[in-house]
Amino acid sequence: MQINTIGVCGAGTMGRGIALTAALAGFNTLLFDLQPEALEKARGQLVKELNKSVEKKKITEAIAAQALSHIAFTSEIEYCLAEIFIEAIVEQIEPKVALFNQLAELNHGDCIFASNTSSLSVTQMAKAIQHPERVIGLHFFNPAHLMKLVEVVTTPFTATAVQQTAWQLMLDLKKTPVLCIDSPGFIVNRVARPYYIESLRLIEEQKATMEQIDRILTSAGFKMGPFALMDLIGNDINYAVSCSVYDQLGKPERLKPSFVQQQLVQTGKWGQKSGEGYYQYKNA
Ligand SMILES: NC(=O)c1ccc[n+]([C@@H]2O[C@H](COP(=O)([O-])OP(=O)(O)OC[C@H]3O[C@@H](n4cnc5c(N)ncnc54)[C@H](O)[C@@H]3O)[C@@H](O)[C@H]2O)c1
Repeated sequence: MQINTIGVCGAGTMGRGIALTAALAGFNTLLFDLQPEALEKARGQLVKELNKSVEKKKITEAIAAQALSHIAFTSEIEYCLAEIFIEAIVEQIEPKVALFNQLAELNHGDCIFASNTSSLSVTQMAKAIQHPERVIGLHFFNPAHLMKLVEVVTTPFTATAVQQTAWQLMLDLKKTPVLCIDSPGFIVNRVARPYYIESLRLIEEQKATMEQIDRILTSAGFKMGPFALMDLIGNDINYAVSCSVYDQLGKPERLKPSFVQQQLVQTGKWGQKSGEGYYQYKNA
């Protein structure tokens, strides 16, 4: 199936990175968000990101301008017409299903619905959508325009043609797709859960400070310490993923989400995107 336009839903941390990836690869890109302010913020951040790449001589000014011109920003769902939609909205099944069903009403019969969920069951999502065979998981990593890996999550319903089209699209976006079975947290988020949860336990038990843990783990070779990484991901998202993996795996004690993170979420300390999380940030 030929993909000309990629619709990206949700203009937050992940959506804007996925839109940038699509636009840089030359696709017509539609960035949809319910909040006009989120679209404004995303546009500003995309311009900043493109300027940075020009300064570093990774791309020319002409390529940056062309990429930006490929992206249409909209808060009107009626304008959402594309061959594939990749959703990056809240980490909850119901809003994702509702969005895909709305998009199915507007789009032609072959349209593909891809979820960027970090942990939710793509099969459960597919079952609730009008066209389960057109649903797939495409799990990008943060920052989406820089990280190569994409977990491609199929369900028992996913049509072979849908899987092939999504796989080829990831190659066209210069990503490294990896096929995953639909299970809680897929591969990376399942393996990474203890990295966050054990670090949070250490500070709850006052065995170490978060600064010490971040410093020690980066010295040990990890690209980012767990607390800086959770702030980059967004504590609201990271906590939702912890709860979702914990619930789906039958609530094992070792994966119990931390009350420290729950408190941060409840007080709006979501990390880099809100200006404060474990650490403080300027220019949120
Ligand atoms: N943050 C990460 O590191 C990361 C990595 C991989 C996958 N994900 C997944 O990507 C998804 C989005 O995460 P994020 O960090 O980008 O979230 P975010 O909070 O930064 O952005 C979400 C955006 O979605 C918009 N939105 C909410 N409901 C909407 C709807 N019904 N229609 C259109 N827009 C809507 C919000 O206004 C917001 O701008 C989640 O499912 C998350 O699990 C996140």
